[in-house]
Amino acid sequence: MELDDIQTITVLGAGTMGHGIAEVAALAGYDVRLRDIEEEIVQDGYDQIEWSLDKLAEKDIIGEDERDAAIESVEPVVDLEEAVDDADVVIEAIIEQMDIKKDVYQELDAAAPERTIFASNTSSLSITELSEVTDRPEQFCGMHFFNPPVQMDLVEVINGAHTAEETTDLVADLAESFGKTPVHVHKDEPGFVVNRILVPLMNEACWMVAEDFATIAEVDSTTKYDINLPMGAFELGDQVGNDVILHVLDYMHEVLGDAYEPSPLLQQKVDDEEYGKKTGKGFYDYE
Ligand code: CAA
Repeated sequence: MELDDIQTITVLGAGTMGHGIAEVAALAGYDVRLRDIEEEIVQDGYDQIEWSLDKLAEKDIIGEDERDAAIESVEPVVDLEEAVDDADVVIEAIIEQMDIKKDVYQELDAAAPERTIFASNTSSLSITELSEVTDRPEQFCGMHFFNPPVQMDLVEVINGAHTAEETTDLVADLAESFGKTPVHVHKDEPGFVVNRILVPLMNEACWMVAEDFATIAEVDSTTKYDINLPMGAFELGDQVGNDVILHVLDYMHEVLGDAYEPSPLLQQKVDDEEYGKKTGKGFYDYE
């Protein structure tokens, strides 16, 4: 398949990343099907896309015609078979749990046309392991976006052990057609490149506060004004979702060892369902 053959993109998962990726694909002119397991979740994702497109139009980042065309090209769907029956590419952005993802990939493999490329937006899980539950591991790679997808330029394109070069080349071309900058990650290691650096930074920040070496304000000022990140470590956790950070860390801890042990402060935030912006409260309040 060539880039010009791609018309229909299905995004599985209408959560923070899923609806953001669907929006990016719609803005690039593709027909997009946004699928989740319940009507209410898909509708919520669709509403979030509308909100974001309105913001972009208000700020003249896109024109009103562009906004209207993008929202019209997104079709919310619940039935998996209907969602993928004409998909050229499926971008999967469902919950970060290996077992659930494997079940979905098995179902997807049976439902999708043979030509369909599978690209996982997983933040850290093994692309190789996920690809092995399908009969098309050579047509399977990682396509990792950053939060918020509409504002972040980078996309990691990750090779699994079985991925064909044509697949990663095509997915990198697709990312470019979205207006993004793809970076090839040649080895399928937990956290890939960005999260292998960023997630331990956020975890270390939590350990420092938990052990009373520093306050949240001190850590965030430092990460912003000295290390020059666009957000402080705790602001970033709230932006990405503290639950997502913990999922990545748990996996890195399991596979890579004790250096990645999650801080109890992060665990507490997740136990209290203080995930960040999406729940209205995290390390900061958003209500
Ligand atoms: N669509 C449209 N507008 C949006 C939006 C969206 N999805 N999300 C926020 N906005 C709007 C806000 O409502 C706000 O609007 P107003 O100006 O009307 O108030 C505006 O954008 C925010 O603008 P700011 O001036 O606060 O910030 P900015 O535009 O200068 O930059 C940012 C925002 C691009 C997110 C910047 O802060 C940034 O780069 N932060 C770091 C993000 C990052 O590193 N993400 C990656 C995390 S790691 C990850 O995601 C991987 C993983 O697997 C865990």
